[in-house]
Amino acid sequence: MNLLILGSGGREHALLWRLGQDKSTNRIAVWPGNPGMEFMTGPSREKLKFIKQSFNRDNFKEIVRSEKIDLIIPGAEKFLYEGVSDWAQEMGVACLGPTKKAAQLEESKLFSKGVMTAAGIPTARYRDLTRCFREDIEMAFEVLKGFQKPVIKISGPALGKGVFVCASPAEATDALMQIKQSPMPGIEQGIFVEEGLSGKEISLFYACHDEEFLFLGAAQDHKRLLDQDLGPNTGGMGAVSPVSWASPEFLSQATETYLLPTLREMKSRGTPFTGILFIGLMVHEKTSNLLEYNVRFGDPETQTILPLIEGDLSESLLELLKGNKTKPLTLKNEVAVHVVKAAKGYPGLFGETVEKGQIISARALEDSHTQFFFAGVMRVGEDLLTDGGRVLGVTTWEKNRDLARAHAYKKIQEFSFSGEQFRKDIGAKE
Ligand code: AMP
Ligand code: GLY
Repeated sequence: MNLLILGSGGREHALLWRLGQDKSTNRIAVWPGNPGMEFMTGPSREKLKFIKQSFNRDNFKEIVRSEKIDLIIPGAEKFLYEGVSDWAQEMGVACLGPTKKAAQLEESKLFSKGVMTAAGIPTARYRDLTRCFREDIEMAFEVLKGFQKPVIKISGPALGKGVFVCASPAEATDALMQIKQSPMPGIEQGIFVEEGLSGKEISLFYACHDEEFLFLGAAQDHKRLLDQDLGPNTGGMGAVSPVSWASPEFLSQATETYLLPTLREMKSRGTPFTGILFIGLMVHEKTSNLLEYNVRFGDPETQTILPLIEGDLSESLLELLKGNKTKPLTLKNEVAVHVVKAAKGYPGLFGETVEKGQIISARALEDSHTQFFFAGVMRVGEDLLTDGGRVLGVTTWEKNRDLARAHAYKKIQEFSFSGEQFRKDIGAKE
């Protein structure tokens, strides 16, 4: 089969690398991809073709036809919000992503809270503040007093900046005032407050079609820039998979409690869910709550879950999307650790510039337990240069976490560039 992967980051590089190893894949078009992908060796490199056209509906349909695409895998959520899955449906081509309507599970946090509530899924108690935020802010302040540790959330896409975890109603009142004074992206879709939860976070990944699913793995992201979860939030500085404390019983309970009720609820609303469902849970002792849905693969979690999946993944995904019964995937009994190297200035808060244009020096390539994934890079002549943000990452997989960490931290030194930042404690904590 021929695949089309949409996006240009480390997640998309990992998808290309993993799916390129499947016997069932022939060509893999990546749109637009990144020049670091060319430095791979092996079958995934041989199958790779870059698509350079600008991305829009007409070009999309033309490329799917001319490249004889059988399966489309969107990376970032923006493609789903634009409607790629709806366009693919019009053409009768399989797409591992939800329709625009079903993508609201991620695009609108208020929509997702509504689904959780209707489906009886455990989640933090919340109150919609949209109306009083617009019309009667004093009333909104009153509502905040009913929450011990209010978390204010902007409903629409807010470039990762729409969640305010506050220690008290007074702090939440300040946050609300600030949002009122300098409006944020996504606010037009609404705003709400929910009760703050504490515990450990875990991300679960499923490929879904209607009420059928394949469990792809569990991972832990490391969102803060600095060691010991200090510093600002980022897109993710590293990840580990699986999660040592998530037992098989925990995972099967999570499927029953979170995944299946969501799929049933979406179906009953006439918007059945197809695609990747990424479920973010907060777990405290025996209690867990659903924090959020994402409707696509996580970056960098994907770089840790894919190396652990055995068998012909592309074929299993296509069968699932065709509505055929599929066997559960087999996951290697190993641990994968992914460490990201980011450019100086990342994540670019408070007007700080994220540095670009540094030469990346490479001393080594992959080995049988290591894969490099590129993201923010550009090519100038024979050189690969940094192009901002998260530049590259390395994944290693080994029999246990300590070995995987040691190996990852050895290999990450083999790529370097001026100003690089990376965490030294990825996967260190249970
Ligand atoms: P979200 O975009 O909803 O996942 O929120 C981003 C991050 O904010 C999550 O990964 C959590 O670390 C944190 N967060 C979100 N909701 C809550 C909550 N109710 N209590 C505590 N932390 C939260
Ligand atoms: N790493 C978090 C995300 O992809 O949303």
